[in-house]
Formats: sequence, C-alpha cells, structure tokens
Amino acid sequence: MDPTPIRADGACDRSAPSPLEGGTKGMTATTTIGTALGESIVAQIDRLASISESETDLTRIFLSPEHRQAADLIRSWMEDAGMAARMDAIGNVIGRYEGDQPKLPALLLGSHYDTVRNAGKWDGPLGVVSAIACVADLRRRGKRLPFAIEVIGFADEEGVRFNSTLLGSRAVAGTFDKAVLSSRDHNGISMQEALQHFGLDPDCIGAAVRAPSEYLAYLELHIEQGPVLEAEGLPVGVVTAISGATRLLVTLEGKAGHAGTVPMTMRRDALAGAAECIIAIESQCRKDINLFGTVGVIRAEPGATNVIPGRSTFTLDMRSASDEHRLQAVSLAVRTIEKIAQDRGLAPQIKVTYEQRRTPCADWLQAQVSSAIARQGFRTLSLPSGAGHDGMAIAEITDIGMIFVRCRGGISHHPDEHVALDDVTSGVNVLLDVIEHFEPKRAG
Ligand code: GLV
Ligand code: MN
Ligand code: MN
Repeated sequence: MDPTPIRADGACDRSAPSPLEGGTKGMTATTTIGTALGESIVAQIDRLASISESETDLTRIFLSPEHRQAADLIRSWMEDAGMAARMDAIGNVIGRYEGDQPKLPALLLGSHYDTVRNAGKWDGPLGVVSAIACVADLRRRGKRLPFAIEVIGFADEEGVRFNSTLLGSRAVAGTFDKAVLSSRDHNGISMQEALQHFGLDPDCIGAAVRAPSEYLAYLELHIEQGPVLEAEGLPVGVVTAISGATRLLVTLEGKAGHAGTVPMTMRRDALAGAAECIIAIESQCRKDINLFGTVGVIRAEPGATNVIPGRSTFTLDMRSASDEHRLQAVSLAVRTIEKIAQDRGLAPQIKVTYEQRRTPCADWLQAQVSSAIARQGFRTLSLPSGAGHDGMAIAEITDIGMIFVRCRGGISHHPDEHVALDDVTSGVNVLLDVIEHFEPKRAG
C-alpha cells in the first residue's frame, strides 16, 4: 500500500476551488495529423500497462499502489494536455479543459483505468487516453469550444476487488451504495479500510457527486470486446445500448470431514454442490442464445487435499440484452441452486452484489457519432454492448453515447487483447470529430 497516503483534492472541503475554476498551461499552435495521435495513444497505453501488481501480467485493482501510480500518470498527462486535473473523493482522476468562456457546462469523456486480473491493456485505458489526446490536440491548435470538456478516468469499473462494480462512476452519479463500504476483499480488508489507507475519507464520498446541470452529455470510446466489427471489416461502430447484468455471490455451507473415512453417501460436500450448480447454470444458458451466465470465481474451504470442503463460495454474472429475460433467468438459476443445495444437505446463502438494468445510448448522440463516422469515411454500423461500461452509471445524470473500436479476434479480458494502430487512429479521429461538431441536445 502507498506509504504516504494523500487526500483527494478538496474532498469534503467545500472551500476548495471548484472543478469549474481550473486553469490551463500555455498554448502552442502546431497541428497533429495522420497517425501521430494514434501513436501517442499507443505509447501511453503501453506506459499504463507497465503499472501492474504482477511482473508477469497486467492486474491493476481499485485502491492499490498501482491505482495510485496510474492515477498520478494520467493526471500528469491531463495537465500536459492543458487541463486542470485533480483526484476526486473515490479515486477518479478528473481533468477539465475550459470552453471559450469559463464555467460552461461540459461534454464529459472518459472510461476506466482499473483492470481485471491478467488483463488486456486496452479495456478502459483506450477511452481515457484517447479523450486526453483529443484535448491535447485541441489545445495544440489553440481551439476552444462553446462548451467545456471534462475527462474522467474512473477508478473502478471492473469491480474485481470488492465484487461490486462501477464504483467510480456511481460515486460521480450519486448512486454509490454506502453499504458496499463494509465489503471485504479476499485479504479481509474492507473497502472503508482500503479507502483510508489510500488516503481517501469514506465519509466524504458524497463530495464526488456531480450535478446533471454540469454536463451536456457523456461520450465513451471503448474497444468492442466482441467480434462484430472485425467480421464487418469496420474499425469503428456506434453503440445502441449496454446490456444489463446481475451478479450474485453464493455460499454453500456443508460439513467438513476426513477425506478417507466419511462414506461418499454421507457427505455434505460444499464444493461438489457448487460444481453441480455451475454445470446446471451453464446448461441453462447454453440453451439460450440471448443469455450469458458466467461463474468466474470459486473458493473451497478449508482448502486441503485430504479434507471434504465444508464451505464453497462462487460468483455468478448473468447478462442479457433484455432486462426481463435476465431477471427471469436469475430467478431460475437461484431456484436451481436452492434445489441442488437442499438435495445435498447444504445451506445456501445467495447475495445480489450488483444489479444494473439495460442502458440505452441516447438517439441524438448516436446520430452525432454516426455522422462523425461517415465524415471520417467509414460505413456506419450500430451494435449493442454485451459488456458493461461506466456510462451505465453516468446515464443517471446525463445522456450517454459510445463509440466502439475493433479489437483483434474480439478478444478481451485476456492478455491477447489487441487493437491495431490504424484502428486506434480511426477511433480517436472519430472521437475528435464528434467533439468538434458536437451540438448539445436542443430543448424539447
Ligand atoms: C466489464 O468489463 C464487464 O462487462 O464486466
Ligand atoms: Mn472490462
Ligand atoms: Mn471496460
């Protein structure tokens, strides 16, 4: 953990300068053309990818020393791009580029900079770094717009550490559930303790909340994490909606015992029970093309070769493009788990750790992204997102839009995740095009 924890800038301190009052560094007037923007983005993605808790893979989780290091780096890039930058009360990094007048409402851009375990380097950081690159390019050209731009690097989107996701964006949207402060990571550290150790005050999370009046819209560029754009031969696409998701934490309580003496028919083996549940859930979801069910974590206790597992814990992540369908599927999975537990003499405990409904991207933003894609010379393709994104939380305070960028083989949440330089360039050019042609939604 960080030996010299620092506080979020101005967290809980109402006398601190408003984020609307940031200054900028000096300006020069050269133009960035061709692949130069893409190349600088790839270099920054590589730089961020070197910040990992492991030497052999990329893992950067919420409130870790690597979170701090990455935040400091992103903040320095924001400042280099001419933004006033700060960390907020949950550990998000926020940069602000004023418009042609101070204190104008902002077009919000961003994505997350935490990762899953053994991650690829593009999921999240591409959106953060591309947004900063767009601002850097505007500033190089001395261009101010009739609105401000804010870029947020969200501190936790993946939810790896505390089994509860979108923590950064929910804090901004004012939907952070304080009950999650008592969740513990696998080392038994509570979120409350982790925040304090990081130098943030859990009682001040409310200071991260932003008002709808501060924003005109939220726009996120993200890798597709699926194979559609590649199959269509397109570098970019317009996102129509983000699928909803439910996450469960299931505990089965059985009875530990001696592996060599307890007859097989007399056991209450909690791990064998979990195995049966997992296969049943997989079979439920395999029959249904519109359903995605994943058990990504399983633990057995006490965890010894010669001891019958007395307790098992596993997670379930269930998604569908239709909320109704997902909720029905979750109820069926819960009934299945309860039935298997009963048949095996196990006591089940099922906790919902995350619930998020489908989030549509606003039609007017989809139209502006489509126009930018067409202006950049590409066919426009609209597609839904099966993966979750910070926009799901931010939609509570402003309309959201998303641009997808092709990734090789549709691979994500894996070290093989890759985006070609040309596609990075196409993506950032589309983002910059949307920004420069952005028109706020007309009243009515
Ligand atoms: C985030 O990557 C998610 O969809 O779980
Ligand atoms: Mn992800
Ligand atoms: Mn992501």
